[in-house]
Amino acid sequence: MAKTKNSANDILNTGISNANSKKVADDLNQVLADEVLLYIKTLKFHWNIEGRDFHALHLFLDVQYHQLQIIIDAVGERIRKIGHFASGSMKEFLAGASLKEHPATGSVSELSIAELASDHDALIRKMRTLIDDFDEKYDDAGSSDFITGIMKEHEKMAWMLRASTSRS
Ligand SMILES: [Fe+2]
Repeated sequence: MAKTKNSANDILNTGISNANSKKVADDLNQVLADEVLLYIKTLKFHWNIEGRDFHALHLFLDVQYHQLQIIIDAVGERIRKIGHFASGSMKEFLAGASLKEHPATGSVSELSIAELASDHDALIRKMRTLIDDFDEKYDDAGSSDFITGIMKEHEKMAWMLRASTSRS
């Protein structure tokens, strides 16, 4: 069996200690797990939504899950850029995620869209703490800037989720 490396960081000399970049990578792998969970949940809602606004919401959620797919790829690649390896199994994602799956089967109502918005809010709160941790605790300004950009994407997605189901 081919030898597996747990870290490629020994070849990096970018001014961040291996211990610090490992901490950042661990946090980013948890973010990755939540992004995958939210991606799957958004897909589920896209497939199973029913109601008066089915067509608009079906198409809207299509855009949202594609945006999450781009974020997932960016987070995985960020972990590689700082010299570590990205998780890639459902087992790891379920163990690492802090968001909860949507367990119900059958149709999804428009009211459930609020659950997606609150998941985005939870990720935004988590990322707000990571912005400071990455920069101040782990000397990784690049990952701090990166996660700031991801947080802003979630702010936009959460706004659109709320606006799409607002009745006022
Ligand atoms: Fe589709």
